[in-house]
Amino acid sequence: MSEPTPPKPPQTQAARLARKTQSLDILYEVAASLNQAGSLEQLVDRFLGVLIDLLDARGGAVRLAAGDGQTRLAASRGLAPEAAGRGNPELVEIPVQYQGRVLGLYSLLLDRPPAALGEDLPDLLVSVGRHLGLAIEKSRLEGEARRLAVMEERNIIGNELHDSLAQSLVGMRLQLKVLGESLAREDLGAARYEVKALQRAMKQASADLRGLLTDYRLKIDEAGLAQTVARLVERFRRETGIAVFFQNECQVLALSAAQEVQVYYIIQEALANIRKHASARNVRILLNNEDDLYTVLIEDDGLGMSGPEEPMPLEHAGLAIMRERTARLPGQIVIESEPGEGTRIVLIFNAPPQGGAAAPG
Ligand SMILES: Nc1ncnc2c1ncn2[C@@H]1O[C@H](COP(=O)(O)OP(=O)(O)O)[C@@H](O)[C@H]1O
Ligand SMILES: [Mg+2]
Repeated sequence: MSEPTPPKPPQTQAARLARKTQSLDILYEVAASLNQAGSLEQLVDRFLGVLIDLLDARGGAVRLAAGDGQTRLAASRGLAPEAAGRGNPELVEIPVQYQGRVLGLYSLLLDRPPAALGEDLPDLLVSVGRHLGLAIEKSRLEGEARRLAVMEERNIIGNELHDSLAQSLVGMRLQLKVLGESLAREDLGAARYEVKALQRAMKQASADLRGLLTDYRLKIDEAGLAQTVARLVERFRRETGIAVFFQNECQVLALSAAQEVQVYYIIQEALANIRKHASARNVRILLNNEDDLYTVLIEDDGLGMSGPEEPMPLEHAGLAIMRERTARLPGQIVIESEPGEGTRIVLIFNAPPQGGAAAPG
């Protein structure tokens, strides 16, 4: 009835095996704690907590190199003098490294020397220091990337303000000067006319500003790209009477704020060009993705472009800016057009899934 039980391994081998699995557990738990989202401070603090628990240490600390060549205490637990006082604890210090660079060190207050806890524990602790180093470097890079994204977005807002508002202000300053001259001549008829013109310019500038703010507020509200484009398309239809077929075929459309802004403005410029140059009757806009590869297609059945893109004078910068925005995504853009054959723009870019990352700022 009973199966023969396999012979038990000798005791020492069992013990070694147990220690090995324990080492793996430690590595696993440390890696898991380092993989959770959060700030650098939270990361280091969580790391220390997990390690102290796993090794039954009395306390520990992490010190990281600061820019000025000094080190700074990044986290510490259980290092009050009483803790060190009891018995005869052992303080071990292990470097925190990334690719051979020492980023700092962590220390543990243990009741026994690490080797007494297992022959491979000293090596394990060094390896844990490398894991921490990698996580710290990754967290710093992510912080840097977020700051860059925010700066880039501010830069774009700056450009938009410059293109619309700054120009209106220059115009109004000129009109104001002319008004002053008319008044100095006591030419009331001219003055009245210039006041009217100024009122019109002022109204236009307010409308521009309102438009800009709406565009950006939409994104801040996280209406999402598809909905923002839908609104743009709706306005375009209403104002031009051109039929637009817009379809978002993406399963998920999870772009970073910076990418959303670029894609939105590329579509907006494409539509502006269709309105100004194409004399089109139909426009088609498609968004779709295959995993994290996204495609945006904008095509019209209008006049098409007259030739291969000849160098354009500066005021015709729309297509050049489109290419610049594409480079920033980063992505690729193809503009196909033949006289009489309409124009077709295909934009392709990658957007890694947004892993529930914290909002910038
Ligand atoms: N959809 C289109 N249909 C026809 N011509 C277009 C289209 N898009 C762009 N073009 C041509 O390409 C030129 C460059 O466009 P762009 O760089 O946006 O400058 P702008 O719109 O200020 O003229 C336009 O002047 C126009 O001749
Ligand atoms: Mg244009």
